[in-house]
Amino acid sequence: MASRVHQAEKAFLILGAVILVAFLFALFFASLAMGINLPGKVERGIIDPSAVRTTAPFDEPGVRPNDEGGYDAVHRGEMWRFVPAEIVVPVGEEITFIATSPDVIHGFHVADTRINMMLIPGQIARNTYTFREPGRYQMICHEYCGPAHHTMFGEIMVVTADEFAARETGEPVDAAAPAGEEAP
Ligand code: CUA
Repeated sequence: MASRVHQAEKAFLILGAVILVAFLFALFFASLAMGINLPGKVERGIIDPSAVRTTAPFDEPGVRPNDEGGYDAVHRGEMWRFVPAEIVVPVGEEITFIATSPDVIHGFHVADTRINMMLIPGQIARNTYTFREPGRYQMICHEYCGPAHHTMFGEIMVVTADEFAARETGEPVDAAAPAGEEAP
C-alpha cells in the first residue's frame, strides 16, 4: 500500500515538472522565437511622453504610404481629441495604425472593426487593418481620460482607390461617387 502511494506521488511530481517545463518553453518560444512581447517593449519603442508632439512620426501625424506597400495612419490621442480627428484611407489596402499619447491613457477603438488599442503615454501602439467596405467609421476613445472624455472621437473615411488617388492629386472627386462619401 505504502509503495503505491509513493508511486502516485512520484507520478504527480513528474507530471508537475513536465507541465512546468512545457509552460516555460512556451513562454520563451513566444517571446524569443515569435517575438510576442508586452506593448511598447523592444522594437515597438518607447518615447518620452513630453516629447511626443516633437518626435517623428507624431510631430506630423496623418496618412502616408509605407514601405510595405500599404499606408501608415499616425495619430496622437491627447486630451481630448485625436490628431488628426479625420482621415481618409483607401479601401482594400493594409492600413497600419500607429498611435501614442502625450498625456494620459486614452483608448483607440474603430467601430465595427477589430482595431482596439490602449494608448499609454509614450508607448507606441500599432495595429494593421484592411477595410473591406467604403464608408465612414467612428474612431472612439474608450478609456476614461478626464472630464471631456465623451467628446473624444474622430472619423475614418474609407474611399475607393480612384477617389483616394483623386484626392491625392487634388483632382475633383467623381460626381458619380455615392452620396455621403464625399468630402464636406
Ligand atoms: Cu481620451 Cu477618453
